[in-house]
Amino acid sequence: MIVMEDRTLKISKIREGTVLDHVPAGKALKVLSILKIDENAPYSVSIGMRVPSKKLGQKDVIKIENRFLEKHEVDRIALVAPEATISIVKNYEITEKFQVDLPERVVGIVQCSNRSCISNKKEPVTSEFIVVSKKPLVLRCVYCERNMGEREVHSTL
Ligand code: CTP
Ligand code: ZN
Repeated sequence: MIVMEDRTLKISKIREGTVLDHVPAGKALKVLSILKIDENAPYSVSIGMRVPSKKLGQKDVIKIENRFLEKHEVDRIALVAPEATISIVKNYEITEKFQVDLPERVVGIVQCSNRSCISNKKEPVTSEFIVVSKKPLVLRCVYCERNMGEREVHSTL
């Protein structure tokens, strides 16, 4: 529920679930798609898009009741929201809080955009990229050395 009060915008606290804070402005929908949250999601989801943030100017915030994230989901989110903070809430209290971390190598998540890359052939080769730059995001395929930019990477997620 979004409550407007005294000119401040607040998204209600959650009882049980996950809060993703400091998501780059506008990226909440991409994060939801990574988490496969759509109109059929069985839990309450609050989304704040482009809300004011002291640290970031603007940010997105997502609160999901009764959903806890798997590691492979956090690894994907790191490619879209490398500075996001994830809080695990139990009985209204934060029991765990951590910063998403973009690793130096991205393994088995992103598909190489080079169609003739060996990682796209029938061989049992797991895709692997070196993070060349975090901001802006650039990944380099370890097999064919193709560079992939942020937009390309996000479109594979
Ligand atoms: N939160 C929530 N429900 C709870 C507890 C916390 O939705 N029961 C949310 C808060 O609204 C906030 C995030 O979880 O968006 C992190 O909470 P907290 O660490 O208390 O907030 P801040 O100190 O403002 O966090 P930061 O310094 O990371 O911005
Ligand atoms: Zn490749």
